Amino acid sequence: MGLRKLGRTGLKVSEVSLGTMAFGRWIDQKQSAEVLDVALDAGITLIDTADVYGKGSDTGNPLESGQSETILGNLLGSRRQQIILATKVHGRVGAGANDAGQSRYHIFRAVENSLRRLQTDYIDLYQVHRFDEHTPLEETLRALDDLVRQGKVRYIGCSNYAAWQIAKAHGISAQLNLHRYESVQPEYSIIARGIERELLPFAASEQVGVIVYSPLGRGLLTGKYAFEQAPPPGTRGAAGEKRLQALLEEERNFQIVVRLRSIAARKGWSLAQLALTWVVSRPHVTSAILGASNPRQVLESVQYVGDKLSEKELAEIDEITSGAHPDVALQR
Ligand SMILES: NC(=O)c1ccc[n+]([C@@H]2O[C@H](COP(=O)([O-])OP(=O)(O)OC[C@H]3O[C@@H](n4cnc5c(N)ncnc54)[C@H](OP(=O)(O)O)[C@@H]3O)[C@@H](O)[C@H]2O)c1
Repeated sequence: MGLRKLGRTGLKVSEVSLGTMAFGRWIDQKQSAEVLDVALDAGITLIDTADVYGKGSDTGNPLESGQSETILGNLLGSRRQQIILATKVHGRVGAGANDAGQSRYHIFRAVENSLRRLQTDYIDLYQVHRFDEHTPLEETLRALDDLVRQGKVRYIGCSNYAAWQIAKAHGISAQLNLHRYESVQPEYSIIARGIERELLPFAASEQVGVIVYSPLGRGLLTGKYAFEQAPPPGTRGAAGEKRLQALLEEERNFQIVVRLRSIAARKGWSLAQLALTWVVSRPHVTSAILGASNPRQVLESVQYVGDKLSEKELAEIDEITSGAHPDVALQR
């Protein structure tokens, strides 16, 4: 497993990270333990979670959030010291008016709850989950800066931000001499290439680490689904994950999968291996956050990462996906 520097920082993280959105939501602690063990054995050092991950993501009940952090805290033990632990704040975690967002009030409470659930006294990378248009950025950045200075957080990052939002935040951090967002966490996969237009060039220019999520298109790019057919039992499709559902309704996505499958077959790879290798080898991507609901998936997906896709294969993938993203300037 290759290691890469997170943006301009001195921190090194594995080029594939483990996402734990499934922990406590689709899989229990025992199954989560198996996934975590295999991921760490494979050399993954960056583990991503969020305070909202848990059953609440499906039930809409904020009181059912937090199981992912709780399970991770239960499982890590002494391994905590060897990994880079990333979590997030923003989503609703209670019914109160201040139980969401990025006010100083909520951030200070949320970090204590995450530290308690994770059974640690520091978070390596604390990320705001999305842009908060209701809180002044100065307030959020000052609160995060205080957490770094208190030693509760090592680095701060953002997720689902547009390039201009990070630029605005960086301007404020520079002006007020605050720690700045050192990473961004957007979605990126062969079928979700929107960040190529603005965010990736911005991140390269400003040396911001890019930790991308859903590199396998939430499972669509593993070939397990067929258009207008019931999702296989036990999958997230069958569990009714909303954002996956939207992907499964697009026939175009299945046409792409068919063509990608033939490239994968020529290389002797699985579709998941092709999809993950593609993301990890894109310029300016620091790490791809892999999701998994069992250890076999982790093992299979990471197996070929590091091997190369040829220029011809990359061009073929561009051609396959360009029709799906007519407004995206594909850059390589
Ligand atoms: N910042 C954000 O807003 C945000 C949003 C989404 C995700 N994330 C982060 O990114 C992480 C990954 O997201 P994701 O789970 O959507 O990523 P993903 O890697 O695109 O999808 C993972 C899913 O693909 C399937 N899969 C994985 N490897 C497989 C294999 N080898 N063979 C067959 N199927 C395989 C599994 O589906 P089944 O379980 O159905 O078998 C698994 O749950 C999350 O855990 C979270 O940490 C962040």
